[in-house]
Amino acid sequence: MTSTKYKALVAEEVNDKFVQTVKTLQTGDLPINDLLVRVHYSSLNYKDALSATGHKGITKIYPFTPGIDAAGVIEKSRDDRFKPGDSVIITSYDLGMNTPGGFGQYISVPADWAIPMPHGLTLLESMMIGTSGLTAAIGAEKILDGNIKSDSGDLLVTGATGAVGSFGVALLAHLGFRVVAATGKTEHTDFLKKLGASEVLHRNEVSGVEARPMLSSRWSAALDTVGGSMLNAVIRQTAHNGVVACCGNVLGHELQTSVLPFILRGVTLAGIDSGIALMNDRKRIWNRFSADWKPAVLENLCHIKTPGDLPKEIKRMLNGKQVGKVLVQHLH
Ligand SMILES: NC(=O)c1ccc[n+]([C@@H]2O[C@H](COP(=O)([O-])OP(=O)(O)OC[C@H]3O[C@@H](n4cnc5c(N)ncnc54)[C@H](OP(=O)(O)O)[C@@H]3O)[C@@H](O)[C@H]2O)c1
Repeated sequence: MTSTKYKALVAEEVNDKFVQTVKTLQTGDLPINDLLVRVHYSSLNYKDALSATGHKGITKIYPFTPGIDAAGVIEKSRDDRFKPGDSVIITSYDLGMNTPGGFGQYISVPADWAIPMPHGLTLLESMMIGTSGLTAAIGAEKILDGNIKSDSGDLLVTGATGAVGSFGVALLAHLGFRVVAATGKTEHTDFLKKLGASEVLHRNEVSGVEARPMLSSRWSAALDTVGGSMLNAVIRQTAHNGVVACCGNVLGHELQTSVLPFILRGVTLAGIDSGIALMNDRKRIWNRFSADWKPAVLENLCHIKTPGDLPKEIKRMLNGKQVGKVLVQHLH
């Protein structure tokens, strides 16, 4: 089998420190799988920032190319469901964790991980959405499944300027909700309003509240991307029969709470795991994105960067300073 040279961002440990550098690699060194995909776009997710900086809970063996998202065109296929020239989306499973990921110009993946690009979506749009969009959309479905409607009351999004949060603001506003965005970066209020937020609060207005087990109801539902003490405060201020969809652990993985909001207010805490979402659920959501769930403001959400820009962007993400989503473009 012929091997092609390609460029990839490689994370490795040098002198006890993790660094990320663009290197030239060979497709022949990729794992043997059903599909060889020429990647056009990827995007930066929190998990990528952790993988790129040596978090062994995510990536075990380095040097390694992170990137849990990829959209591209199939170059070789050993599976009847796909042929060369087909456009596909691959997000999560093991991509970018221990299978070389979308920060390389090529990936080699099992056919079961690939979603045929739905009509109505481009490669670029699919990565403007990416895992962060999929995560926010799973949260939106959980909120809708909990019978929360656009006239039920305000809907809170925390970590609102982050990748999941900003997409969540855009999607939930697009679906007709009055979205309240909570952020530590109120200097980006205009950005959040352009995405569709009706109101922007400093995050301390959500989390800096009294320690009582339940407080006055402030929102009918919430998409929490932060976790920890923020999630605790969000739950205690959620209205009767409200839904809190949670995906993140920016503030740590522990949650202190009491049962009172659950047993006295019927609040539902709904977890999101986009990494193990079933293929049928993924396909349904990607089809929604190609139709009525594609926010008109997609382009406002993203900054387009190259793999060489990523070390700076990764640092910015780990310092909680990212605003919106970093889209990674491969120039072939
Ligand atoms: N479960 C899943 O399927 C899934 C999928 C994707 C991501 N995630 C997780 O979701 C979380 C968010 O991911 P992301 O890609 O959106 O990351 P991100 O772009 O880095 O956004 C995180 C946001 O959290 C807020 N934040 C940062 N430090 C904070 C602090 N000390 N206190 C309160 N808020 C703080 C910031 O928003 P503001 O400045 O606007 O407050 C920041 O932009 C991560 O934990 C990630 O691992 C989970």
